[in-house]
Amino acid sequence: MSLVFTRPNPNAIGKKDKRLMAEVNASPLKHFVTAKKKINGIFEQLAAYIKESSYFLEDTYRNEELDPVTTEEQVQEVHGYLSKVAGIGEVLARRHMKCVFFGRTSNGKSSVINAMLCDKVLPSGIGHTTNCFLQVEGTDGNESFLLTEGSEEKKSIKTVNQLAHALHQDEDLDAGSLVCVMWPKVKCALLRDDLVLVDSPGIDVTTELDSWIDKFCLDADVFVLVANSESTLMQTEKSFFHKVNERLSSPNIFILNNRWDASASEPEYMEEVRRQHMDRCSSFLVDELGVVDRAQASDRIFFVSAKEVLQARVQKAQGMPEAGGALAEGFQARMFEFQNFERRFEECISQSAVKTKFEQHTVRAKQISETLRLIMDSVHVAAQEQRIHCLETREERQDRMEFIDKQLDLLTLDCKSKIKKITEEVERQVSNAMAEEIRRLFVLVDDFHMDFHPSQVVLKVYKNELHRHIEEGLGRNMSERCSTAITAALQSTQTEMIDGLKPLLPGPVQEQVDKLVPRQQIFTLSYDLACDKLCSDFQEDIGFHFSLGWTMLVNRFLGPKNTRRALMGYNDQNRNSTPTSVPRPMALTPVSTSMPPFPQNSMTQEELMVSMVTGLASLTSRTSMGIIVVGGVIWKAVGWRLIALSVGLYGLLYVYERLTWTTKAKERAFKRQFVDYASEKLQLIVSYTGSNCSHQVQQELAGTFAQLCQQVDVTRQNLEDEITDMNTKIELLDALQSKAKLLRNKAGWLDSELNMFTQQYLQQGR
Ligand code: GTP
Ligand code: MG
Repeated sequence: MSLVFTRPNPNAIGKKDKRLMAEVNASPLKHFVTAKKKINGIFEQLAAYIKESSYFLEDTYRNEELDPVTTEEQVQEVHGYLSKVAGIGEVLARRHMKCVFFGRTSNGKSSVINAMLCDKVLPSGIGHTTNCFLQVEGTDGNESFLLTEGSEEKKSIKTVNQLAHALHQDEDLDAGSLVCVMWPKVKCALLRDDLVLVDSPGIDVTTELDSWIDKFCLDADVFVLVANSESTLMQTEKSFFHKVNERLSSPNIFILNNRWDASASEPEYMEEVRRQHMDRCSSFLVDELGVVDRAQASDRIFFVSAKEVLQARVQKAQGMPEAGGALAEGFQARMFEFQNFERRFEECISQSAVKTKFEQHTVRAKQISETLRLIMDSVHVAAQEQRIHCLETREERQDRMEFIDKQLDLLTLDCKSKIKKITEEVERQVSNAMAEEIRRLFVLVDDFHMDFHPSQVVLKVYKNELHRHIEEGLGRNMSERCSTAITAALQSTQTEMIDGLKPLLPGPVQEQVDKLVPRQQIFTLSYDLACDKLCSDFQEDIGFHFSLGWTMLVNRFLGPKNTRRALMGYNDQNRNSTPTSVPRPMALTPVSTSMPPFPQNSMTQEELMVSMVTGLASLTSRTSMGIIVVGGVIWKAVGWRLIALSVGLYGLLYVYERLTWTTKAKERAFKRQFVDYASEKLQLIVSYTGSNCSHQVQQELAGTFAQLCQQVDVTRQNLEDEITDMNTKIELLDALQSKAKLLRNKAGWLDSELNMFTQQYLQQGR
């Protein structure tokens, strides 16, 4: 009881002192006010943070480009916090300190409240005055008004009499109903600090104490029992607080022994009475209720005179001296004690209210921020893992691409040389095979059987069929000779190519590539000899030629070409003489391979000889005189018998040859001539066929290689696409990670703010 607080006159001190004093004398209620401001601020930040986090998580969750880094539950959970925190924020903004005054009728409850408010706000008087619960709250306006339960109507009141009148007028009001008295904050300092004072009807005039507790006491921070110091604590009062104590854990209870001014009339008993009251009240609070330690009990029990304090304060407000008028003795002490009560009360209510009204929400906010921090942490970790995976994948793809590029270069060179080698080999093989086949062409021609007849029509058909036979036969034989080897070489080269390129391709594509080989088995070389075109110029000579005839002899001596020349010259002369005869078309190429074409420079010598012989021939044919002369000369030389024998033999031989010149013989001659002709013609296209075949093989292999390269290109493109994809992902994840980190840090910051709040406001006095 040693602490005495005075409110200094603000006009009497300087500016600096004023601030100092303000700090020293700042109402303990400010503790609640600043705490409320602080916690509201934290909740606003928390709400904004949750909103940001919720958007972030939703966006992240919906992002289809990434693998999930957050779960639907997390998104839902954070979304749920939005409304929760908004709700808490609203509740917090409305939070105030609440003190309820109880006591028996006429103990001076209304007078105490008025004294604290320094104004006659509530009606008081002898007898049962307060007939319902009156809650005095501060309002920002200048007008005071009433708000009754279930009505928005603001009933204006100017004076306390009007209030009393209004309350009495309202017939609906019963003892358990609540009327809010909205009092301008400008008129009363106490109401500025979120303090709400609740006046009640006397507890001795009601039977509904339980419902009162339910309705008005559960959210009260402090209870003030206004007792009458002229009598002792009554059972009604005690039993009411027992009930309160049962419902609330360790309620803050102050006991005001009011009407202490009455003790002034009997000063000799004052100390004794005070001690008696003190003991009883202490024992009630400490022993019966157990709401306070004995040591602190004296800070909860006060001896005051509300009437005096109110009077003094009203007078002071009116500019009159505080202690003016007829005041009983010991007023100053009672005044100090009232002020002391006020101080203790303010300290108690603000600390208690901060605790009861904010602690729970602070814990909740901490839980929420912790959950969010963990979620952000998990998002960060998931993003980090995914990012590392992406980086690894990108590196792997890049390495792979480099490997493919290098390998492809090497394999291309390798394949080129392989193709070159195989094509050369094929060309060689095909050329050899064809040369061999040409040598054996007569066998093929001999195998051809068809009715032969020298007539032009039959010959034409015969030739066509022969061409076809040769074409087929040659093709077949060539295939037999080369195809197996070539196909095997081709396939092994293809397999080598595939095996070389396969490691550059991904698994499933490798299987596809494997299917390329059986497809290649279909490959067959096409020799495409075009015999019909090649031999279209073939002109057979199946007319009868006597072996000892003029043409044949010349032929034998000069060779077929020169014979033709000789004959041509002869025929030219013939033609000159007989223009109607049709000239025989000259074969474009030599008939026999055994006779190579004459070199150009030997032509002049030959021509000389030819002209000699033709000259001789023409001479002989033109004149029979020659024969006679020659015959005469021979006649004379050998005698007629020998001549006759020779001529006979010659004739016989002619007849024999003429008779054996049958169709069969003609066919044989035809075939022989054809073999000679076709051999020569085919000889000309040996190298062409070889290169044609090697070209086919080269095409085939180049095709395979191109196909493989295409697969590699597709693989490479896929890798490039994947790398681009990874780059985008990495960028996204970078942004995501830094955002998650930022939000995680924000949660940490909010947590530290909440810790600071707890330290500063909730752990004080523990
Ligand atoms: P109800 O509202 O009827 O329950 O009574 P209350 O507890 O509100 O008492 P109220 O403040 O109306 O005071 C009743 C009477 O006691 C009034 O006439 C006051 O002037 C008087 N009174 C209040 N406090 C004191 C005091 O400290 N000393 C003296 N002498 N009279 C007081
Ligand atoms: Mg009253």
